[in-house]
Amino acid sequence: MNWRFQECGPGDESDFLWVRSWVYDGRPPQESDHLADIIGGGRRYLARVDDQPVGVTNCLTLRARHAHGFVPLAGVATVGIAPTHRNGGYGQRLMAEVIRAERAQGMVAGALYAFRDKFYRKQGYASGAAHRMELHVPVDRMPSLAQTLDARVATAADIDGLAACHAAFVAPYALSVDRHPDRWARMLASQDSQLFVLGAPAEAYVYARVKGFYEVLEVNEFAWSSRAGYESGLAFIRSLAINQSSVKWCEPEDCPFMSRFHDGQVDVSVDREAMVRVYDVPGALACLKPALSGAFRLRVADPIVPENEGPWRVEFGPDGTTCVPDSGNDLPLVEVDITTFSGAFFGHPGWRQMHRMGLVTADAATLDTLESLMPTGLTYHSELY
Ligand SMILES: CC(C)(COP(=O)(O)OP(=O)(O)OC[C@H]1O[C@@H](n2cnc3c(N)ncnc32)[C@H](O)[C@@H]1OP(=O)(O)O)[C@@H](O)C(=O)NCCC(=O)NCCS
Repeated sequence: MNWRFQECGPGDESDFLWVRSWVYDGRPPQESDHLADIIGGGRRYLARVDDQPVGVTNCLTLRARHAHGFVPLAGVATVGIAPTHRNGGYGQRLMAEVIRAERAQGMVAGALYAFRDKFYRKQGYASGAAHRMELHVPVDRMPSLAQTLDARVATAADIDGLAACHAAFVAPYALSVDRHPDRWARMLASQDSQLFVLGAPAEAYVYARVKGFYEVLEVNEFAWSSRAGYESGLAFIRSLAINQSSVKWCEPEDCPFMSRFHDGQVDVSVDREAMVRVYDVPGALACLKPALSGAFRLRVADPIVPENEGPWRVEFGPDGTTCVPDSGNDLPLVEVDITTFSGAFFGHPGWRQMHRMGLVTADAATLDTLESLMPTGLTYHSELY
């Protein structure tokens, strides 16, 4: 068996399409199938076995928010192994190669939406790093609120305002991503869903699929930057749903709807869960500029990227964070596996909970130090791919 993994070049597109079409459409590629540009940039990878194309993935180049900085992050999508080659370990091998390849490109972490967590946990991805909560509300349980902001159908002239509203909406959450302008253009061009803006400048927007009678109104995205935006947005959604049975939309995990307007018969479920993995431990730590100062030693068990293991000497403060190899013993040692580190790095699940579970070795004072650099907090991975 001759395994070959590579970044996909122009000559490899038909092989990439071959695998993608079999995996995602259950048939060979058609004339009309093509590879669209990856919005915001990124890389495609292809694996061959004995010169046959068998595995693919797309990696979007993203920049994720952290409580103390921004982190270059690969958004891993379109993972697939051809149906003829499954259950032979190629999927695991592909994912391990992707981690190393994206790390070499400067991506210090990666995120993905898993078909099953177990497959990716084996690669060091942490479950539960960020949750998008879906609310399913009968129309008669929607709150009766005044719509104080006027609504209008969005046009290209609204893109700056939409981007500012979105940026304010995601700013409180680690793992959130500022939206690339091409994504707004794609939303405006959709034949399927409509984008409405509330307020001038925009304080909320609603991107919804309006159709039929007595069905479920699917709101693909609802975002707001102020109380007036949130309340006017809910009032607008209620009027969009006037001839429907119920409404679905998503909120970040702190769900303002649940604290302010929950009124029975509301289903709340996890719509998507993003998994996350740190690809480059010293590189990720070097992105952080916390307000407080501290130091510790760190050892991270990482069978896929042994270069991450350390031990490291981590020193941080308002000027930034350094992480250098260290075999001394003058600082307290933290020992953790890469999966636990990856979730706690972004703040969820946090250091204290993982310590209670016996997954982090550190003394009480060092847990405070870890929290100063990588605080437990709210997360939201704001792009779908
Ligand atoms: C998901 C997918 C990429 C996995 O690829 P794969 O090559 O079948 O995966 P692997 O063989 O590495 O692992 C799958 C299972 O086979 C097992 N396996 C690995 N090597 C094996 C071997 N030599 N012999 C038998 N089983 C093996 C693994 O342990 C795993 O079992 P588990 O479910 O108990 O964990 C592939 O099934 C696929 O393309 N699915 C459709 C598209 C999809 O769902 N993509 C994911 C989007 S997030």
